[in-house]
Amino acid sequence: MSERKRILSGMRPTGPLHLGHYYGVIANWLKLQNEYDCFFFVADWHALTSEYKEARKIKTYVPGLVEDWVAAGLDPEKCVIFQQSSVKEHAELQLLLSMITPLGWLERNPTFKEQQVQLAAKDINTHGFLGYPVLMAADILMYLPAAVPVGKDQLPHTELMREIARRFNSLYDCNLLPEPEALLTEEAKLPGLDGRKMSKSYGNGISLSESMDDILPKVRGMLTDKNRLRKSDPGDPSICNLFPYHKLMTDPAKLPEIEEGCRNASWGCVDCKKVLLESIESFLAPIQERRSKLDSDTIQDILIAGNKKAQDFAQRTMAQVREVIGFDS
Ligand code: TRP
Repeated sequence: MSERKRILSGMRPTGPLHLGHYYGVIANWLKLQNEYDCFFFVADWHALTSEYKEARKIKTYVPGLVEDWVAAGLDPEKCVIFQQSSVKEHAELQLLLSMITPLGWLERNPTFKEQQVQLAAKDINTHGFLGYPVLMAADILMYLPAAVPVGKDQLPHTELMREIARRFNSLYDCNLLPEPEALLTEEAKLPGLDGRKMSKSYGNGISLSESMDDILPKVRGMLTDKNRLRKSDPGDPSICNLFPYHKLMTDPAKLPEIEEGCRNASWGCVDCKKVLLESIESFLAPIQERRSKLDSDTIQDILIAGNKKAQDFAQRTMAQVREVIGFDS
């Protein structure tokens, strides 16, 4: 067994990854894969909790998400990449954990209430959606990890997961399940092209698989400091939507010049966008290079190998789970 601590995280397959996902999630995973034993999985069953009407479509996103991950630099030699619905043990653990989870814990979950309102059109007043955190607890606890890297929005879920683990250990008088910490890794936020949150549903993103030909008009059309009407007007990078992109993507040595140039009006927004396009191009180059070597068979093979590793692990955990509750024969 390796000395490194184990972590696990997952993402729902909802379409191509964009730069917001890269800086918000993937950049952290890329670091973590060198420091921990990592399990990263496609949470396709979780996607069904709100998208059950589009089950077939969700399924088609799975290989694409794995391709995006590997193109972005996740290394299947370093981490286990798998698909939730291929490891049926998650469903069994979810069922057993659901027996011991008080309804009140789920009803109080703030994301449940929020999403009921936000996604009203999707009819998510369902058992599956209410049980979202139980499935998530099963995903996590299955791999007995030390920590779970998640964004802040997932904290109510990881807290519930810890309570479920505690209740399980206490009810069955064991210490089988750990109480993994949420690893709140620093998230770099990148706004969408129009300044709102970058999101597929707003159509304001740049995806990792896009060509420069498609990106060019998007960057040209980006909003900048709206008070800067003419090139001769001084601008303010702190309210310009381009500047957060430069901060993440442009060579830091060039930033003072860009900032100064904007403030004293020696740079126009067109110059600024030209530099950003170059930055985006060099950021995407290695991703495109890795992607060009991936075909559907390679992705399939990565998933088959990862699913097998995850399943071996899950089977061992389930043998122990069944044993402590006396359902092992
Ligand atoms: N709920 C997570 C999200 O929407 C996805 C997820 C499902 C997950 N199971 C998980 C994340 C287990 C971490 C660990 O982003």
